[in-house]
Amino acid sequence: MGLRVGILTGGGDCPGLNAAIRAVVRRASLVEGAEVLGVSNGWRGLIEDELRPLTRISVTGILPRGGTILGTSRTNPQDGADYPARIRATWERHGLDALVVVGGEGTLRAARDVWHEYGLPLVGIPKTIDNDLDGTDFPFGFDTAVNTVMEAVDRLHSTAESHHRVMVIEVMGRHAGWIAAYGGIAGGADVILVPEHPFRLSRVCELLKHREQQGSAFSIIVVAEDAHPHEEENFLDSSDEEQIYRKGRLGGIGFLLAQEIEHHTGIETRHANLGYVQRGGSPSAFDRVLATRFGVKAFEMVLAGEWGQMAALRGNNVVSVPLDDAVRKIKRLDEEIYHVAEVFFG
Ligand code: F6P
Repeated sequence: MGLRVGILTGGGDCPGLNAAIRAVVRRASLVEGAEVLGVSNGWRGLIEDELRPLTRISVTGILPRGGTILGTSRTNPQDGADYPARIRATWERHGLDALVVVGGEGTLRAARDVWHEYGLPLVGIPKTIDNDLDGTDFPFGFDTAVNTVMEAVDRLHSTAESHHRVMVIEVMGRHAGWIAAYGGIAGGADVILVPEHPFRLSRVCELLKHREQQGSAFSIIVVAEDAHPHEEENFLDSSDEEQIYRKGRLGGIGFLLAQEIEHHTGIETRHANLGYVQRGGSPSAFDRVLATRFGVKAFEMVLAGEWGQMAALRGNNVVSVPLDDAVRKIKRLDEEIYHVAEVFFG
């Protein structure tokens, strides 16, 4: 029997997942006797034995499609006492030789543990709109999300300008401010608030008033979902905080911030939460190419037996790095990027 490789996509979906799946299947098709099995819904598909063959024909036409044809879930293989045994049983039933795990921080952390603790031969591919995964300069998914944010900021700019309003735009990113900073810089935001720098409401209002005095009758604020007010100027009560900063379910800071701004400046203020729009849709050219490069590399890592490793972008090269390096800590927003953003505040 030839080489049998499983592939799963786990965690939040993002643009480029199908491009990566296609690339793994197409690279495998160049190897005599190699087969790829698609695992449904992340780790859950291995626990529940939901696998199907993926062929050249079944991946035709998926390159530009958002989401993942395999489905996804946030199931963690460590969360059930019998999960490891069930995963191993599925593995043996299908005669798998290797697994390609496409995921963000949570899914790849689980992959690292499955590799270390159970010795299942696997390799990783980094995806996430949040860009919070260490070990790679960029995952795929981030570029498309940033383009979506930029387009939304452009659109909200024109309505804010026409109505002489402040527009507060809340974006995703979990505990890192990458989407806010890149989307805000690209869209020309006047203030960008990120989790890495707790913000002072008084300073934000000062910047807005200053802009008004200079003759700019509108302003755009981009706020990351996990941005926090500075503890000395916290305007959130404990129930607000519980609601906004729920574990794995962030959202709502934009609405309350808009209320506070209107109250303190007297400038009419609206908010928009871009939400899941940021995760949907067709991948950008950059993400299609990156996901394709990662898919080809991952299959070649399987051929080379580079287990416990992840395909990663370093400079202009796609290389193989230990999963350990990728999940040791969250990659926070680069200070240099924040410094550039700050130049345009106010
Ligand atoms: O990690 C990607 C992400 O979209 C975050 O930016 C966001 O906080 C989270 O997922 C939302 O997750 P869910 O799909 O579980 O609501």
